[in-house]
Amino acid sequence: MTAAARKAPELSFRSPTVDDGAAMYQLVKDSKVLEPNTRYAYLLLSTHFAGNCLLAEQDGEVVGCVAAYRPPSHPDAIFVWQIGVREDARGQGLAKRMLHALIDRPANADVRFLEATVDPGNEPSCRLFRAFAREQGVPCDVSPGFTPEHFGPAEHPPEDLHRIGPLRREP
Ligand SMILES: CC(C)(COP(=O)(O)OP(=O)(O)OC[C@H]1O[C@@H](n2cnc3c(N)ncnc32)[C@H](O)[C@@H]1OP(=O)(O)O)[C@@H](O)C(=O)NCCC(=O)NCCS
Repeated sequence: MTAAARKAPELSFRSPTVDDGAAMYQLVKDSKVLEPNTRYAYLLLSTHFAGNCLLAEQDGEVVGCVAAYRPPSHPDAIFVWQIGVREDARGQGLAKRMLHALIDRPANADVRFLEATVDPGNEPSCRLFRAFAREQGVPCDVSPGFTPEHFGPAEHPPEDLHRIGPLRREP
């Protein structure tokens, strides 16, 4: 083995299990950008929606996660609720790789559209979804998603809906 290969930290992708709910919560909380849901919500994601979610692990530590599900109203889509990469692992293409890996999960094999709502002020996030669409060679349509009024009295920026597809899937 070369010295470079010895040093390269092993990166792998997998679906979460019930034992990962707490780590997903922590990664979201530590992002300081994403709005953390309850710990219980991540347990539901890592069990009921495990096949639709993704974790990135490096040297046994969770360095990225995608919380996602198939919306019952339009099951040809996967909705990315939250995506986060640990601060020290950002800027290396990991989030993009996670999205490509996400649609390749067996439970997502028939997905035709990837959707997410994004705060238009979150440039890394806007660029991530545009870059994923570009690499898939498909359009990324942006339309109003949730408006500040939808969030009620709490101050909240808008969340624009990004709809990416139709994705080309293996026959
Ligand atoms: C958004 C986030 C997931 C991106 O993760 P990442 O692994 O650093 O992203 P990637 O390296 O895969 O980059 C994806 C694209 O976004 C761009 N990008 C990433 N970070 C950026 C930044 N800080 N500023 C501008 N562009 C950025 C990259 O240049 C790339 O585009 P390109 O292929 O056109 O060059 C990460 O910054 C993060 O966890 N942020 C906090 C949580 C968050 O905002 N999540 C998204 C809301 S749903």
